[in-house]
Amino acid sequence: MEFDIKKYKDTKKSNTGKHFFITTYGCQMNEEDSEKLSGMLKRIGYTKTESIEDASIVLFNTCCVRENAENKVFGNLGMMKKYKRKNPDLIIGICGCMMQQEGMADKVLKTFPYVDIIFGTHNSYKFPEYLNRVKTEGVQVKEILNKETEIIEGIPIDRENSTKAFVTIMYGCNNFCTYCIVPYVRGRERSRKSEEIIKEIKELVSKGYKEITLLGQNVNSYGKGLEETIDFAKLLRLINEIDGLERVRFMTSHPKDLNEDVISAIKECDKLCEQIHLPVQSGSNRILKEMNRHYDRERYMYLINKIKEEIPNATITTDIIVGFPGETEEDFNDTLSLVKEVGYNAAYTFIYSRRNHTPADRMENQVPDDVKHERFNKLVQAVNEGVIRSNKEYEGKIVEILVEGPSKNDETKLMGRTRNGKLVNFAGDKSLIGQLINLKIVRAQPFSLVGELL
Ligand code: 5AD
Ligand code: SF4
Repeated sequence: MEFDIKKYKDTKKSNTGKHFFITTYGCQMNEEDSEKLSGMLKRIGYTKTESIEDASIVLFNTCCVRENAENKVFGNLGMMKKYKRKNPDLIIGICGCMMQQEGMADKVLKTFPYVDIIFGTHNSYKFPEYLNRVKTEGVQVKEILNKETEIIEGIPIDRENSTKAFVTIMYGCNNFCTYCIVPYVRGRERSRKSEEIIKEIKELVSKGYKEITLLGQNVNSYGKGLEETIDFAKLLRLINEIDGLERVRFMTSHPKDLNEDVISAIKECDKLCEQIHLPVQSGSNRILKEMNRHYDRERYMYLINKIKEEIPNATITTDIIVGFPGETEEDFNDTLSLVKEVGYNAAYTFIYSRRNHTPADRMENQVPDDVKHERFNKLVQAVNEGVIRSNKEYEGKIVEILVEGPSKNDETKLMGRTRNGKLVNFAGDKSLIGQLINLKIVRAQPFSLVGELL
């Protein structure tokens, strides 16, 4: 179905000069959703602001994958009370994964009655409609759909960056890892038609974008359920044909579905970057089984070795959870040994967080907090040793980077990434932003590289 902005056109005039403030929690999928929420708001006349004080709409796009993400949202909603008191016309909205949890929207309304709009992940395209209702009828709007709708194409999108863009290729997840809430809040897996994906990427290229990251909870199962016969490897090869596009990345791969065809596509297609994010979650076969991951350590290591063999300069990154219910010292040591064996270029490490209604939450042998923290610290240390070692290997090398913008920590410098995703800071003129350039790496820092123009 196509998104129809004409429905909301009437509001355009009255919104001129008004500002919205949006905060996003969680993953890249949420970031992309927020870019769409911004896109819709801009289309009906609002302007984005970085200051809550200036805003006439404040929107929180939430995440619920771990408890600490939820706590941050509660803290920020509490803080909004004073803004609403100062400006009763302020419209406060809350949306995203957290709202899809049973009973959560009601809990939010009860605790923070000054919230005006609540919606979930399946109906975010209706945000302009909800906004109209709040403004014209003065009502509070709460709408959460329990089931996914068909994919809505053509939602305006206001991208954060002008050189690289996210392109979602599939929504939802069917995997039901026992610790994870995502399948309950994002619904079942559904893929976008390849022609829609290609159309979007071609439009991006025509606007000057050089790099795209394909997004999905499990990109390797792309294509299932579509009328066309296509899989992820074939989609990658189609995208590689797009003239003017320089770099393609994708995430997230699932080790049970990543196959040799995808590895060959990365090896053979010049635009596919040598970078694979392959979450392992645990190095213990017993825990992997309890997590319902459908692969074992041996299969995982087979894939890692295959990637290293076929694409020698590939960076491999991962997600790891410590303290899953029943995890023993021996299981944890298996994770540590796997981290050392793989030598990750980066790893996102998480302390297991109990999530309502997930099977792992009902498991009896929960790991005590102090043990979880102790293991977490050991894991971070093991990961960092590998990351520092792998960064050191870049010293003295010439790399190609896509210049993304000013450095995060030092606005006088620029930053960019190598094809395989390493972050490089360097001194250079702002006119280089958006360009592919070669740099010499002069120093490796723990989590980034320092480069020099040639
Ligand atoms: N506790 C901790 N980490 C989790 N993740 C997903 N669910 C949980 C949970 N309940 C992590 C996984 C996943 C990443 C996006 O978040 O490692 O790959
Ligand atoms: Fe969660 Fe597993 Fe789906 Fe990833 S694959 S979103 S960890 S259920």
